[in-house]
Amino acid sequence: MPGFVSVAKLTDFRDGIVRVFPVDGLDVAVVTHEGQFYAFAGHCTHENYSFNYTRVRPNDVIICSSHFAYFALKTGAVLNGPTLEDLAVYAVRVENDDVQVSLDPRDRPFP
Ligand code: FES
Repeated sequence: MPGFVSVAKLTDFRDGIVRVFPVDGLDVAVVTHEGQFYAFAGHCTHENYSFNYTRVRPNDVIICSSHFAYFALKTGAVLNGPTLEDLAVYAVRVENDDVQVSLDPRDRPFP
């Protein structure tokens, strides 16, 4: 596991619009919202629908537009919908103009 890898430039993001990038063979969703970056699984845990270009909803909720599963942006927890499986969450940071993601759980900001 290589630690943090660059996925995009800061200028590639608009507030609240999720983008999905390949990282070490996984698709990872990255979004900036109200000054903070978040990274989580790039696909829904229900039937694998991509979160690319999903918009962060009020109260920091990610909604899968396929069958309307609701997830908490900050923790990946399922809030409602046809899945019981939370989204994996990953560490994300900004280094100069690079947005970087790490799949290593030791880099995550919370347990
Ligand atoms: S694929 Fe996301 S709710 Fe069904």
